[in-house]
Amino acid sequence: MPLRGEIPISGAKNAALKLMCASLLTDQSMHFENSPNTLRDMQSQTELLEYLGCTISHSHNAMAINARPIHTQTAPYDIVRKMRGSILVLGPLLARFGHAKVSLPGGCAIGTRPVDLHIQGLEEMGATITLEEGYINAQAPAGGLNGAKILFPKVSVGATENLMMAATLARGTTILANAAREPEIVDLGECLIKMGAKIDGLGTDTIRIEGVSSLNGAHHSIVPDRIETGTYMVAAAMTGGEILLKNARLEHLSAAAAHLTHTGVTVEQLGNDILVARTPDRRLKGIDIMTEPHPGFPTDLQAQFMAMLTLCEGAGLITETIFENRFMHVPELARMGADITVHGHSAIVRGVEKLTGAEVMATDLRASVALVLAGLVAEGETTINRIYHLERGYERIVEKLEGCGAIIKKV
Ligand code: EPZ
Repeated sequence: MPLRGEIPISGAKNAALKLMCASLLTDQSMHFENSPNTLRDMQSQTELLEYLGCTISHSHNAMAINARPIHTQTAPYDIVRKMRGSILVLGPLLARFGHAKVSLPGGCAIGTRPVDLHIQGLEEMGATITLEEGYINAQAPAGGLNGAKILFPKVSVGATENLMMAATLARGTTILANAAREPEIVDLGECLIKMGAKIDGLGTDTIRIEGVSSLNGAHHSIVPDRIETGTYMVAAAMTGGEILLKNARLEHLSAAAAHLTHTGVTVEQLGNDILVARTPDRRLKGIDIMTEPHPGFPTDLQAQFMAMLTLCEGAGLITETIFENRFMHVPELARMGADITVHGHSAIVRGVEKLTGAEVMATDLRASVALVLAGLVAEGETTINRIYHLERGYERIVEKLEGCGAIIKKV
């Protein structure tokens, strides 16, 4: 059934989790608006910050954090293992307190995901780092971290963020070259600037940070979630509907929107909203996609676009260049009738006439939502197990889709 209606877009999970860590850089209060507080990942990050001693209060979409009462600089395995985003406390704790002990996060379903770039960068800023019993033990030199010129051998969102935060309180200037350019990093940088940090080059591959001796509290409204936006854009495309995405920014989704347009969907920014529409009776065309660091096509939308390609006319080729194991949705989509062949980092998706409902299993956040999208257009009923993955990153997804006419319920 074509989905029609409006969907409010939440604040970006992958910005909010880092902004919470930025609060560790100051002993003054931080106030966030448009915060996706109901997400499970936000709750895990809250648990970690409270463990460290922060006081945190929420109301609706607002969050206030005060890191003055911090009494430990150790982030324990039991909390870190729930969510890799917790590694982002390392840079801020080390910069402000001169030492930090953070559990190594371990692998996850989409790949091994090492943190060597975070560690090497902090070492280049003068930190002494040892790995003991599964923990990263980091000690800054007397007088604190030093500014450094850090050239990343590979583009990393998390390493760019960890080092940018650490550099705000380091002595001297830090240059991050081959830095990541994701909108969430720009959002974090803009908040750090409000806190008194001196940062240039946000949104480019070279970020320059001049350290200051202390940072102050700030108010910040979190950037809209471009991956949630892109996910509902695909929902409109797949169902042949028309959805107005409220408070969303197309400029953050240029690559995904261009691909969607090539399949035959219209996408336009209308003030603060994005309108996505497809002529219901026209079949979408297959397209080729390669995931890349921003502003390229985001890996976090790869699974959703694959779900769409299963029903497109002709074939599409998807190449995943960011994570080594991000095709776990393939066998689940195949259970619903999709025709997909994986070869190494690429998948050929040959469009079929229809998908059929089946019992499937969610394996990670974006893979799960791809199954929801497939379920929306499959003939018959689809049951998705292990939906806790979904709750890590999509606020009120059932209500948002139901509001546009989807038949979906949480059981
Ligand atoms: C962030 O992960 C996001 N997570 C991911 O979103 C997203 O898929 C990813 O960036 C890429 O856009 C958060 O923001 C919390 P990376 P991150 O460091 O920072 C390798 C989602 O679904 N690498 O840019 O961990 C790494 O293994 C999630 O919301 C190293 O080799 O990603 C990967 O292959 C999933 N050494 C590549 O770089 C390092 O020290 C890019 O990873 C760090 C990374």
